[in-house]
Amino acid sequence: MKYTAPKGCKDIYAEEANIFRFLEEKFINVCQLYNYSEIKTPIFENAELFLRSLGEETEVITKQMYLFKDKAERELALRPEGTAGVVRAYIESNLCKTVSKSKFFYSGQMFRYERPQSGRQRQFHQLGVEYFGEEDILADVEVINLAIDFIKNIGIKNFNLEINSVGCKVCQPKYRTVFKNFIEEKKDLTCDDCKERIEKNVLRILDCKQPQCKELIKTAPPLVNYLCENCSKKYKELKNYLTNLNISFKENYFLIRGLDYYTQTVFEITNNELGAQNAICGGGRYNNLVANLGGPKICGTGFALGVERLILILKSQGNIILVSPQVFVIALNSEAKNIALNILNDLRKNNLSAEFGFNASLKSLLKKANNLKVKYAVIIGEEEIKKEKVILKNMQNGEQKEVDRDLLIDEFQGNYIKEGRG
Ligand code: HAM
Repeated sequence: MKYTAPKGCKDIYAEEANIFRFLEEKFINVCQLYNYSEIKTPIFENAELFLRSLGEETEVITKQMYLFKDKAERELALRPEGTAGVVRAYIESNLCKTVSKSKFFYSGQMFRYERPQSGRQRQFHQLGVEYFGEEDILADVEVINLAIDFIKNIGIKNFNLEINSVGCKVCQPKYRTVFKNFIEEKKDLTCDDCKERIEKNVLRILDCKQPQCKELIKTAPPLVNYLCENCSKKYKELKNYLTNLNISFKENYFLIRGLDYYTQTVFEITNNELGAQNAICGGGRYNNLVANLGGPKICGTGFALGVERLILILKSQGNIILVSPQVFVIALNSEAKNIALNILNDLRKNNLSAEFGFNASLKSLLKKANNLKVKYAVIIGEEEIKKEKVILKNMQNGEQKEVDRDLLIDEFQGNYIKEGRG
């Protein structure tokens, strides 16, 4: 039996793992600059939490949840996204009552039973933030600014920000009626799922990916024309602040997002280098979610970035992040192996990363050192053992010299300090 990773799940190792760590570290760094602190929530929650937050008629809930029962028959679900768990923790910890504003970031696996394709997996990773307790649209501006700061910081140049407002409890129902009337007239042109959505949750049709529905939606009345005074004001403020920050954006009047908890601001960041799955970031404001999950009436706003999609872009741009050892220690006989073991220990104690080469000819070990892209090789053969010396070879210019075994670390420190790497 040949074991493979479950469908839609990928092992991440070597170069990809380096990029992954690079992204996570950069994200933490940017979040800290904006005064966000980390939150880690369980990767599974009570299934009910997601049903209540994401919307019963969303694809994530109807088709994509990994549901299971534990031994005590509890209905659990692997988290399909991070917001619901963070909101639950925010309420459960009572932070919602004790701290007026809370800002969190997270990084972790999410699970959705989707048809795998490039940039779409069943287990994937998100980097996200949630900002609680700020009514001012400046909070939305801050999270968008943070996302863009991060995206630029990691070297992604081509991206587009799309924004929209999905209104609130006052204006959204009015638009729902207008949109329902529009779509009912054209019901025959919609896909089978959308025919059902007309009664269950008609606005979900705006998020349908079927070509015939997408065409139809283009001719629908835009939500932005039906926003109440307050939502309209906030949307204008958002656009003004973004313009002031020189953040270019495109208004997409039919952007509604795949989850039901959003109110007012919604946004997505896309990248043209990716194929069909081109959204690298999605987010928005959720004014009612905390209250809907049993907390006080506190608003929130946030986003999540898809790590696998970021990795695809960085790889396609040739942003390869190699982590090579600095020194390759070569032992040419069995006595040299013992000496090399101690040298390796000394190097690592002095913060120099080192790899060990043995049981092969000098030629092939030097070739290995080259492939590893190390800067230096330390060679120990019969002659060097007799003289209590080693050969230190600079792999970049080929120069080599004999160095006293006891002075090797000093030699390195000298070199590294000279090159600004000490
Ligand atoms: P979302 O748009 O569902 O939003 O996901 C955010 C990002 O996760 C997407 O833009 C995409 O890059 C990535 N993503 C989603 N599904 C997959 C998949 N199957 N495979 C690979 N990547 C994927 C949310 O999850 C919200 N919780 C964001 C948010 C936070 N809104 C407010 N706060």
